[in-house]
Amino acid sequence: MKKLQWGMIGGGEGSQIGPAHRLGSGLDGLFEFSAGALDHRPEEGIDYGKRLGLGNRAYGSWQEMLAAEKNRDDRIDLVTVATPNSTHFEITKEFLEGGFNVLCEKPMTMTVEEGEEIVKISQKSGKICAVNYGYTGYSLVRHMKAMIKRGDIGKIRLVNAEFSHGHHADAEDADNPRVRWRYDPAQAGVSAQFADCGIHAMHMASFVTGQEVTKLSADTVSCLEQRVLEDDAMVNFRMDGGAVGRLWTSSIAIGRQHGLGIQVFGETGGLKWSQEQPNQLFYMPLNKRLQIIERGEANLSPEADRTSRVTIGHAEGMPLAFANIYTDLAEAINAKIEGRTIDPAANLYPKAVDGLRSMAAVVAVAKSGKKNGEWLDARPPMFQ
Ligand SMILES: NC(=O)c1ccc[n+]([C@@H]2O[C@H](COP(=O)([O-])OP(=O)(O)OC[C@H]3O[C@@H](n4cnc5c(N)ncnc54)[C@H](O)[C@@H]3O)[C@@H](O)[C@H]2O)c1
Repeated sequence: MKKLQWGMIGGGEGSQIGPAHRLGSGLDGLFEFSAGALDHRPEEGIDYGKRLGLGNRAYGSWQEMLAAEKNRDDRIDLVTVATPNSTHFEITKEFLEGGFNVLCEKPMTMTVEEGEEIVKISQKSGKICAVNYGYTGYSLVRHMKAMIKRGDIGKIRLVNAEFSHGHHADAEDADNPRVRWRYDPAQAGVSAQFADCGIHAMHMASFVTGQEVTKLSADTVSCLEQRVLEDDAMVNFRMDGGAVGRLWTSSIAIGRQHGLGIQVFGETGGLKWSQEQPNQLFYMPLNKRLQIIERGEANLSPEADRTSRVTIGHAEGMPLAFANIYTDLAEAINAKIEGRTIDPAANLYPKAVDGLRSMAAVVAVAKSGKKNGEWLDARPPMFQ
């Protein structure tokens, strides 16, 4: 099968997320890194792109890349948008309208209105628009979803999710420009910690349960006085299948590193998974003994089997989770090219509607936090 052509915007030298995308897209030999506008500084972007082998498809800006790629017979099949948040909407919109499939970093947009526009454009254009809630690519997160869907823990009663770290706890470091912008509404939007991290946990709650968040109540605080936006939030929510949700997110939790985790409690069992130990899933069937499910065990579920590569007992980590988003997207793109339906086990990549729902939840958390935790509708107008 011919390799698909892949391009990236942002993700330049020294960026946080660019290397994970290059590793993820390249891992299975499905995509060839062919084009990029990798840096906000044109010369640096072209230079880095050339060093990565892009030749004359290393561009100085995304506008230049869009214009040039549109006119190529071998134009890119997928573009990843890995620039800072405020640029996502414009770049994603322009590339979708230009006829490209897009994988956009989260958050997909800065407002709910923009999110609805992206959903409509992607529906109208027939192009794929995915959002990189990349942690849903972990094999055992996929398995958790499959177990819940097949009824292994019965009807879901409660979800407890969290994403807390301590990397912004140092008051002495709060004015460091790399930290400060995240708590400045002019640059970060209406929310800081929930929009940056909490939303991964909330999306994961929806992903594994197959239920959407309907309403929420939030207690938001800025533990460091000089911060306008929140660095800690506790969010209660309800889901459309009847599940109750609890979510804690924090950036001042000293000692926490990358504390994304989720527990789901059903009528006949419980499941627990944590991003820092992603190769184990804890399963507690009612009135039985705890079972530890290892990634790579044979015949777990089609969803887990297709997303596990390395032999059991050898760790798989975050870039491989991203790679699973890319293998889903390769399958989705090839299914469209070949005029067939997508393998259902691959149709799990987060989509524009997930980006939109997340944005509506971010806005609801910010509003509820300002109104002493008033319960608010968390759905975008399109789904109310
Ligand atoms: N899905 C995840 O788990 C995850 C994790 C980390 C970051 N992110 C998201 O990824 C995005 C990038 O974050 P980061 O931490 O890598 O940021 P970063 O600041 O480390 O890197 C941003 C890169 O984008 C480039 N850039 C900026 N504006 C550009 C433009 N107009 N055209 C081309 N390139 C441009 C910069 O030069 C830089 O190379 C953010 O939206 C962030 O929320 C997602």
